[in-house]
Amino acid sequence: MAAPLILVLNGPNLNMLGTREPEIYGSATLDDLETLCAETAEGLGLAIECRQTNLEGELISWVQEARERAAGLIINPAGYSHTSVALMDALLAVDIPVIEVHLSNIHKRESFRHHSYVSRAATGVICGLGFAGYRLALIALSDILEEEDDQ
Ligand code: DQA
Repeated sequence: MAAPLILVLNGPNLNMLGTREPEIYGSATLDDLETLCAETAEGLGLAIECRQTNLEGELISWVQEARERAAGLIINPAGYSHTSVALMDALLAVDIPVIEVHLSNIHKRESFRHHSYVSRAATGVICGLGFAGYRLALIALSDILEEEDDQ
C-alpha cells in the first residue's frame, strides 16, 4: 500500500526563516525545517510534500487540492491565521485531519495574534515549540490515521 500523503503548508514570510526576527523564530531556515519534516515523515512511514507561499489565494488552492490528494494536512498559516475567513472556510471544507502549527507561542505575543480563524477548522493546534511543533504534528497525524485505519 502507498504511504499516506501529508501536505505541509507554510504561509507568508516563512520563506524568510533564519533571517526574520531570529529572536522569535530562531536561526534555522525553511530548508532546515522541510528536511526535519521529511526525515520525521520517513521514520513514520508517511509520504510528505512541503510548500510555502506568500499568497493567500495560493494557500487556499493548495488546501482545496489537499482535499483530493492528501490523508492529512499540517499548516502554519502565519499572518493569515489572524485575518483569513477565506482560508478558514477552505479548511472547513476539507474532511482530513488538520494540525495548525505556530513556531512561536502566539498567546504570549501581541493580542491580535491570540485569535486564529484557522483554529476553528483545525483538529489540533500546536504553538510555541519551534520546529519541534511540526515533528509533533506529524506524529499526531500518524496516530490519527492509524486510529482511522483500525475503525
Ligand atoms: C507564526 C505566528 C504568526 O502570528 C505570525 O504572523 C507568523 C508566524 C508562527 O509560526 O509563530 O508569521 O505563525
